[in-house]
Amino acid sequence: ETGFSYRNGALFCEDVPVTELADKYGTPSFIYSRKAIETAFRDYDGAFGSHPHHILYSVKACSNIGIISLLAKLGSGFDIVSGGELLRVEAAGGDLSKVVYSGVGKTDKEIALALEKGIHCFNIESVPELNDIARVAASLGKVAPIAVRVNPNVDAKTHPYISTGLKNNKFGVAYEKTVELYKQAAAMPSIRVVGIDCHIGSQITELSPFADAEEKILDIVDQLAAEGIPLEHIDFGGGLGVCYKDEVPPSKREFVRLILDHLEARGYKHLAVTLEPGRSIIANAGILITRVIRDKTGETKNFAIVDAAMNDMGRPMFYEAWMGIVPAVPRDGATRTYDVVGPICESGDWLGRDRELCIEPGDVLAITSCGAYGMAMSSNYNSRPRAAEVLVSGSTSQVIREREKPEDLWRGEHLPTL
Ligand code: LLP
Repeated sequence: ETGFSYRNGALFCEDVPVTELADKYGTPSFIYSRKAIETAFRDYDGAFGSHPHHILYSVKACSNIGIISLLAKLGSGFDIVSGGELLRVEAAGGDLSKVVYSGVGKTDKEIALALEKGIHCFNIESVPELNDIARVAASLGKVAPIAVRVNPNVDAKTHPYISTGLKNNKFGVAYEKTVELYKQAAAMPSIRVVGIDCHIGSQITELSPFADAEEKILDIVDQLAAEGIPLEHIDFGGGLGVCYKDEVPPSKREFVRLILDHLEARGYKHLAVTLEPGRSIIANAGILITRVIRDKTGETKNFAIVDAAMNDMGRPMFYEAWMGIVPAVPRDGATRTYDVVGPICESGDWLGRDRELCIEPGDVLAITSCGAYGMAMSSNYNSRPRAAEVLVSGSTSQVIREREKPEDLWRGEHLPTL
């Protein structure tokens, strides 16, 4: 269920034609299907059956408070990586006692904020961080709940920029040092050990890296049990991939089944499982709509110049990612091969290369599977106001983030008076 389909020759989001959304809200705009988001969450939730579990949506994938609020209402918790994300969850009405806080660079100020708001746990990524959290907690008269993010040294077989569970990555505590760190943590009066955590990467399309990581984590859980350090949950992070082009990732059900099978085989039938999915909740539930500005025939290539750019959707530029590009209303006629590019003054400003399209200026195109790491990674480069975000539910639609106005571009800037 992606929420997007063609009906009578026109692309719809749920029951609304995409061209109607382009006319009403302008372009470029991100369009999200409520049904697709809710289905993705429920698929995870349902796959666990009666096994105790926590699904924590990874806020970084798409941080709009409207999206957070939808998921909060379904019972989701949240994986955060900054004070800003914590305050977004609060602003959206999310339950802060269902928040876990990951990331290698939590500042004292962010740690104090999280302690004051009463989050579920800190996923700690180093000994110095453990010491800093213990110190801040003691100074506030609080006890900090923690899990250790273990680096299991497993190859997630994904793009190097989004692989996080290898020895040379900055993430997590070295596998061999983990038990020692737990012993230290367990002896600290301002620290309470509640779990263990790993996250090996993103856009993972095979099950084997997850299985390898889980086995290694369970080895540590065994050792901790022997040391008399019990855990309340195991967090396997996010990372399940989605289909952008022709990838065939495991289903959420298969992924969860794998986790539970390994857990049960090792005798941990009752240990709660936490997941931190981002992409697999929201990627396929969103598109970026854009209009063709101009059809430019270059020396060796044709360029479809559109009003969305790398500042709106940076994945092609960052990771050479392939994103689907489809017409809102396909034309009858011969196609030509185009590079689909934005107006930004960089050759890296491309959204798709060598695409067969039949287009005219003014046509609406949809860049598909843009719900994750689209708006969340957007910028104002070239003084481009950020796109609008629109949520569709059935035959209704609503702006959940207004398109930025030109004056928003220089908000907070000052003419010098010195
Ligand atoms: N938990 C932690 C600790 C993470 O670092 C991440 C993502 C997630 C959960 C969620 O992972 P997901 O389920 O979305 O794979 N900008 C890149 C992706 C970066 C992922 C960063 N960490 C992209 O567009 O491909």
